[in-house]
Amino acid sequence: RPSPAAAPDRLPFSRITQEDLAFFRKILPGRAVTDPDLLESSNVDWLKSVKGSSELLLRPQTTEEVSQILKYCNSRNLAVNPQGGNTGLVGGSVPVYDEIILSTALMNNILTFDSISGILTCQAGCVLENLSLYLDDRDYIMPLDLGAKGSCHIGGNVATNAGGLRLLRYGSLRGTVLGLEVVLADGRVLDCLATLRKDNTGYDLKQLFIGSEGTLGVITSVSILCPRKPKSVNVVFLGCETFEQLLKTFQLSRGMLGEILSAFEFLDSECMRLLNTHLKLRNPISDCPFYIVIETSGSDSTHDGEKLHHFLEEAMTSSLVTDGTVATEDSKIKALWSMRERVTEALTHEGFTYKYDISLPVERIYQLVTDMREHLGGRAKSVVGYGHVGDGNLHLNVTSAAKDPALLAAIEPFVYEWTASCNGSISAEHGLGLKKRNYIYYSKPSQAVALMGDIKAMLDPKGILNPYKTLPDDLK
Ligand code: FAD
Ligand code: MLT
Ligand code: ZN
Repeated sequence: RPSPAAAPDRLPFSRITQEDLAFFRKILPGRAVTDPDLLESSNVDWLKSVKGSSELLLRPQTTEEVSQILKYCNSRNLAVNPQGGNTGLVGGSVPVYDEIILSTALMNNILTFDSISGILTCQAGCVLENLSLYLDDRDYIMPLDLGAKGSCHIGGNVATNAGGLRLLRYGSLRGTVLGLEVVLADGRVLDCLATLRKDNTGYDLKQLFIGSEGTLGVITSVSILCPRKPKSVNVVFLGCETFEQLLKTFQLSRGMLGEILSAFEFLDSECMRLLNTHLKLRNPISDCPFYIVIETSGSDSTHDGEKLHHFLEEAMTSSLVTDGTVATEDSKIKALWSMRERVTEALTHEGFTYKYDISLPVERIYQLVTDMREHLGGRAKSVVGYGHVGDGNLHLNVTSAAKDPALLAAIEPFVYEWTASCNGSISAEHGLGLKKRNYIYYSKPSQAVALMGDIKAMLDPKGILNPYKTLPDDLK
């Protein structure tokens, strides 16, 4: 029996003709790519786990061009795969068959920045790190940060409702995104690009597109509220003997660091082993079963330093943590963060990775890793846990030397049943994409899924936008 993650049969979309190519070449001179070598990397996802066979990559520069593309594709019944930086982890960013890839890579202009309100408006293809650098010069930061910052686009971040390393402090994109411009499947441009913090005039339509993974429209511009750059940043890397102690340290940090706590992340000793082995990153402290990365961000280094000192003293004297190191200067801060941010990269050197991104009541998050290890016995190469403790978000990853259907069958649906039994979410921040679409019912009631289907049918009646993704096969 094929896995529910496997691709369904190709739907009856049209196939690209010479006439279609002539149209795209006319409206996008030099930017309708058909060279198979150039298409190769856009057809394969970051994890190298899904491969499409698209023969056309379109690189629009303006909203008007996106509108013309979609109007044409809709009338011709041609399927389209919106693509940003192609760093998505659920197989949503690449075609399944021959869908046309619509890349936002050339839509990378910053449109406005208001240095009083901190509101940034930009095109969807701006790379997250470039936006951060732009804001850094102006004493602001982006409200989100993630390991893929050097490649991911802000449009892709919004389309996946990416969480990342700062969500604990600045909240999700559902709060910080103030407006969106979106091109609908038939080419209509929906201008909801507000730059207001408050706007209760009717339904908040932009929310429909945040986290919709390219299935309801193509995001072309984003306005986003950016926080001031903190004057003082500290990062602490700590070691704990048990996950219970790690949770107590989290509680303590919330109480003692209060408003300056900006991240509380963890990794286990298996992650550390992979960082050492594959990336030659050295453990900055002594070996422990669990490691914590805490970041504080504030406006007064003396005040922050004192708070941090008292917190560390308490954590050490009450034996919650066994070892630790603190960084205040940029290069050491970066080095400590890389111990957490580069786990994803270290895993790719193992061979093949089965990735799970689970929301759970925070006190349960590591139990799933322990239970999975026991459940799989010696069948996996490694079973690792890391993630965003502050958000109750576990990244459980299981590796094998190569794709292993028997291993996959042992992991799924076990992992989803386990999660549902705790009322957790089977996708905390990565979305459903191709791989997890059919597991949606573990986290959403069937009435909710049916309503999602109605919304999809209303906004994209021909289903041309990112087919085979996000919604389960039984809706189609
Ligand atoms: P893509 O991968 O290109 O696309 C992702 C999805 O969005 C696809 O379904 C695509 O069709 C759709 N899409 C893209 N652009 C648009 C658009 N303009 N309009 C409509 N739909 C669009 N995620 C987290 O939440 N938190 C993390 O901490 C995190 N860390 C990561 C670290 C690494 C090393 C990697 C490789 C990935 C990480 N991710 C994380 C996954 C994450 O989803 C993305 O990195 C990011 O949000 C995707 O942006 P992208 O531009 O690469 O989008
Ligand atoms: C992370 O938090 O590191 C990302 O979500 C990527 C991953 O899950 O590997
Ligand atoms: Zn994450």
